[in-house]
Amino acid sequence: MKFGTPMFDQTASIRRQASVAEQSANPRPTRGVGTESVREAMASVYEPIAEALLAVERRIGMELQSQYEAVGEVLRHGTQLGGKRLRPALLLLAAAATGNIKEDHIVLGTVIEMVHTATLIHDDVLDGASTRRHVQTINSRWNNQTSLLLGDYLFAQSYRLAATLPTTSAARQIAEAARLVCEGELRQVLGRDQIGLDEANYIEMIRGKTGELCRVACQLGSEYAGASEEQVHAMASFGDAVGIAFQIADDYLDWWGNEDRVGKTLGTDVLQGKMTLPMIRLLDSLDGRKQQEIVEILRGPADQRLLGLIPFLNRSDAREYTASVAWSYRNIALQSLQTLADSPAKSALQRIAEFSVERTF
Ligand code: IPE
Ligand code: IPE
Ligand code: MG
Ligand code: MG
Repeated sequence: MKFGTPMFDQTASIRRQASVAEQSANPRPTRGVGTESVREAMASVYEPIAEALLAVERRIGMELQSQYEAVGEVLRHGTQLGGKRLRPALLLLAAAATGNIKEDHIVLGTVIEMVHTATLIHDDVLDGASTRRHVQTINSRWNNQTSLLLGDYLFAQSYRLAATLPTTSAARQIAEAARLVCEGELRQVLGRDQIGLDEANYIEMIRGKTGELCRVACQLGSEYAGASEEQVHAMASFGDAVGIAFQIADDYLDWWGNEDRVGKTLGTDVLQGKMTLPMIRLLDSLDGRKQQEIVEILRGPADQRLLGLIPFLNRSDAREYTASVAWSYRNIALQSLQTLADSPAKSALQRIAEFSVERTF
């Protein structure tokens, strides 16, 4: 089952071994996915909405300017570099698959990407991450204060922009989605080091923190395109399932991904005491005595957990199981599209569902 790059990549020496392992396992030259090539890599999937996505990109640039050069530099660093622009792409593709893209969609795509970026900037403080979108995080290049304020700036600017739309419905929906993202992140922070988290609660948590923005992007995209109630419902289910698959893959990559390809700091989940699906599955699959060994490592020094646990994970079925749960959400996403008429936008949405589980970045 193809799912990420089969390697573990946290320290310089392991990274070197891993890259040797990757080369021998995969003799085809793998093109690096750096800051500039992220969009290039997504370009063929985004082809049906390329022009509108460019308009979103320009709008983001317009919305985030400051008369003060130092502030402008932080804004540019935080928002204009890299990033897959997945949520505006979902919004625009949902529109194109169910109706027509209009000017309001450009505003909505800009708002959603700004909210998403704000959550990432704050999340990097929570996780103590040093790399994001292939460049230094705001907290690493500047400091935590700058991250908090920049995240707040983006939230404020996104709601100001949403309030320019002719009706309040979108602003309300996006604010509700952002509330649910924060609720999901809060549940995760408050649940740190709580080893008993079960799979159902994990799924509900990631549905909030990641599924919600993807769901609202698809819902608003189709709603504002004049889609029928049934189509809007189908798109919302698609967004929810893709978001969940995407986050499970992200949690997989946190253990087995390649930092250079993913472009962000990995290995922070276990360091921060976040219970994700691989660890939940590992504990579920062991008897009481073995479970106790794992619990001792989890309760031990944070910086030794990752190396201590990876052999246990690799001996168990946690990796395959995690991939299989992500695939089950990919399947739900694909099923949600069944009622839509065929179109280039629908094919692109199908490719995004595939990408959500096959991605290595
Ligand atoms: C990162 O989202 C946070 C998660 C939900 C896993 P993306 O992987 O979409 O981040 P960017 O926007 O491409 O940087
Ligand atoms: C949180 O998940 C992403 C948000 C919803 C803000 P992660 O902490 O796993 O995201 P990354 O891995 O830092 O992008
Ligand atoms: Mg994080
Ligand atoms: Mg992650």
